[in-house]
Amino acid sequence: MGKTPIPLDVLAAEVAQCRKCPLCEGRTQTVFGDGNPDARVLIIGEAPGKNEDLQGIPFVGKAGQNLNQLLEIAGLAREDVFIANVLKCRPPGNRDPRPEEIELCTPFLREQTRTINPEFIVTLGNFATKFVLKTDRGITRLHGTLQQAGRFKVFPIYHPAAAIYDRSKWEALENDFATLGELLRK
Ligand code: URA
Repeated sequence: MGKTPIPLDVLAAEVAQCRKCPLCEGRTQTVFGDGNPDARVLIIGEAPGKNEDLQGIPFVGKAGQNLNQLLEIAGLAREDVFIANVLKCRPPGNRDPRPEEIELCTPFLREQTRTINPEFIVTLGNFATKFVLKTDRGITRLHGTLQQAGRFKVFPIYHPAAAIYDRSKWEALENDFATLGELLRK
């Protein structure tokens, strides 16, 4: 028999007190995650940015506006899904997460995933994809392909911030979210 899942409010309280790595020194607050605790779809991003650190909610800045538009293409609203990040604290200057930060922080994400128990995990960008799939294959090769990790269907997609700097990524993002919608309707 598996372990009893830890309630999300208990996990959120643990995250809020976490001082396992130096990112806690620079944070305004932790960003636990947000959405439907019974979601069919868990969306995993990279780490909070400036706006997320200030508001305590994931994907509320420009990348979040992109994500909201893309969710609509899949026939989803934010209230339907749960959104979390690999890291719960903002890295300074939005630098990439470091391996030791990922190692220390992801036990929280693992527990969140067990508790929510989604059917689909959508990984946004390289960090979430590599963590969930335990792969070195990059997002350019994996995006839009259905994968499996344990009991979860995993669907990697470019990070919506990629389209802020490179508009050519937008079409791929739209196509992949349309495919996600089809997978959910199957
Ligand atoms: N980018 C992420 O990966 N996560 C957020 O919460 C915001 C921007």
